[in-house]
Amino acid sequence: MKFTYLQPKFIFFIFFTTFNFSVYSQQKVVEQRINQLLSKMTLEEKVGMIHANSSFTSAGVARLGIPELVMSDGPHGVRPEHGRDWNMSNDHVNDAGTYLPTGNALAATWNPKLGYEFGSVLGSEANARGKDVILGPGINIIRTPLNGRNFEYLSEDPFLISKMAVGYIKGVQDQGVSASLKHFIANNQETDRTAVNVEMSERALREIYLPGFKAAVIEGGVNTVMGAYNKFRGQWATHNYYLVNKILKGEWGFEGFLMSDWGAVHHTNEALYNGTDLEMGTDLAMLPKPNYGKFFMGDTVVTLVNAGKVPIPLIDDKVRRILRVMFKTGMMDKSRKPGKFATKEHQQTALKIAEEAIVLLKNKDQVLPLNASKIKNIAVIGTNATKLNAMGGGSSQVKPTYEITPLMGIENYMGSKAKVTFAKGYEVAKDATANQKLVDEAVKIASTADQVVFVGGWVHGYDFSKWDDNAFDAEGIDKKDLKLPFGQAELIKALLKVKPNLIIMMMGGGPVEMNSWIDDAKVVIEGWYPGMEGGNALANVIFGKVNPSGKLPMTFPKKLEDSPAHKLGDYPGVNGTAVYHEDIFVGYRYFDTYKVEPQFAFGHGLSYTKFKYDKMEVVATDKKATISLSITNTGKIDGAEVVQFYVHQDQPKLPRPEKELKAFQKVFLKAGETQNVEIELDKTAFHYYDDQSFNWVVDGGKYQILVGSSSRDIRQQVLVEFKP
Ligand code: BGC
Repeated sequence: MKFTYLQPKFIFFIFFTTFNFSVYSQQKVVEQRINQLLSKMTLEEKVGMIHANSSFTSAGVARLGIPELVMSDGPHGVRPEHGRDWNMSNDHVNDAGTYLPTGNALAATWNPKLGYEFGSVLGSEANARGKDVILGPGINIIRTPLNGRNFEYLSEDPFLISKMAVGYIKGVQDQGVSASLKHFIANNQETDRTAVNVEMSERALREIYLPGFKAAVIEGGVNTVMGAYNKFRGQWATHNYYLVNKILKGEWGFEGFLMSDWGAVHHTNEALYNGTDLEMGTDLAMLPKPNYGKFFMGDTVVTLVNAGKVPIPLIDDKVRRILRVMFKTGMMDKSRKPGKFATKEHQQTALKIAEEAIVLLKNKDQVLPLNASKIKNIAVIGTNATKLNAMGGGSSQVKPTYEITPLMGIENYMGSKAKVTFAKGYEVAKDATANQKLVDEAVKIASTADQVVFVGGWVHGYDFSKWDDNAFDAEGIDKKDLKLPFGQAELIKALLKVKPNLIIMMMGGGPVEMNSWIDDAKVVIEGWYPGMEGGNALANVIFGKVNPSGKLPMTFPKKLEDSPAHKLGDYPGVNGTAVYHEDIFVGYRYFDTYKVEPQFAFGHGLSYTKFKYDKMEVVATDKKATISLSITNTGKIDGAEVVQFYVHQDQPKLPRPEKELKAFQKVFLKAGETQNVEIELDKTAFHYYDDQSFNWVVDGGKYQILVGSSSRDIRQQVLVEFKP
């Protein structure tokens, strides 16, 4: 018998067309089922679906088998239960689950696979808790280090955001739960967040503020998007014709639904016509007897449709989008597989992410890793070492099964092998300054210890309702400045005098001013808000069980005035408007182009081993390039390096940043091991947005491809030239 093998490309063709056809026909069936449902629904039932019917739900239509849609924050754990309309205490509910490291910790791993694992844990727990939508990821650009919600967000760089957010979203949605991408768009500060009008150039919008959202929609396939509170170019972002209808649903072809942030709708017609599909919020004024029919997208809509002032297809489109998501996530056919809650595996994922997130900023004289066997007496100083963070910060609060603080992590690691002593060192209280009694006590125990670890930085309070205690990394409020609160700088200086090998560990949602002590400090670590396993992760890093591999997802400036939003732009705005004058020069794009020395550069992070970059080769064809190089771990211990690829254009027609991140890869190498890294840069790696022609452009000419260990530590570079 003659047997003919099919060429692989034909097999691929058959698979691809069959796959596409079946996806297409499934979609067709879904759209038909939606048509049938729409034809059976009353106007009141339709309108019931496009606004909240309790603080975190919107109505279904029971007689047609359409369930209520149940939402929950997000973004780094499933929020505690509070009952419908905040009518329940959650003390006796089993809602203590996995508290993951927060957004900028996740981004600091520079590991998109961990983005996926993070999302899977979240999706699985949301599912187990009966939620249909988890309100995350939050991916607003980190424009100013003062933003109280930076800890929830990822980065100052749109490329890094894109890669991490896509993983996160797929992780969540593969569990049958929808992610909700927030806050669309330009919610880059908490001061006046519900009122400020943001103005930025089309170029800044396209190059900096939109790409993360675009990737999340197009590559991540996110099911829902949440509109921001602020205005954008004079119109509320949640019902902004240009952002929602033109870009999100038009250019990007988004087929899911856009919900408002809580209470962000201001106008019925604007919301109806400019793309808002679901109005969310809590009817605070009417509690304990809320009346959601009074929402902008409530009873008024019924009246307007009945009066012939609003066409029914406009409402149908919104209901269709919600139903589409319900079909996609198995809500209509009850086909969702059960999720898992508060498992050991989820806790292990939280640990792994925290370990990869920790950034070793400085390690002079190789003080780290510590040799635990030589330490008999270790002093831990600083209230942050014992501070619980999970329930702080605002809507992202999580009730954790447990939370390992830095002090607990060090105690766990040392067990009975060493004496661990603790001193508060400072008081966490509103406007607290250095407390000499606490400083003296800390210095006293520090001077007799073999090793001293200071744990400080920002805080958010344990109790959301204690606003004063919450006032640093918190929703609804920005930091006043970058100065370390509670007199921590004085304490650090006093400790450094007695212990020059002091380990300084910072917690929080971003940089602090370090000027007064950084030159004397040998070791500085950024620990972020590292989640429920954070203390164990920090101990594993300082004692060398884990070799640090985190890299900064944002620039740490020397002082606030060096940040572009503060140097060039409006913050928090003038007469209600914040003009982003710094334009595309956000984060390292500004520091590198304007030659401002940062304290620690974007992409910076040390390891206990060394990596050698070698043999870089580039094959460049028409506005594309393939780059290969070898990376060797030249040290004695295993480790991971984030190889970062930046592009610089020589003599650009429009001003361009000195360099921009266009690819990265995290490479895990055994001691002595070499690996080849190959990366393809397509034309989007070279393009810029020309706001004269309203188009993406790649100029002919010379480009440098820079490969390095941080934005300021370039190890190899090659020049490529494109024809005009
Ligand atoms: C926040 C959102 C959050 C929502 C629901 C709003 O105040 O801005 O991020 O998802 O509340 O809690």
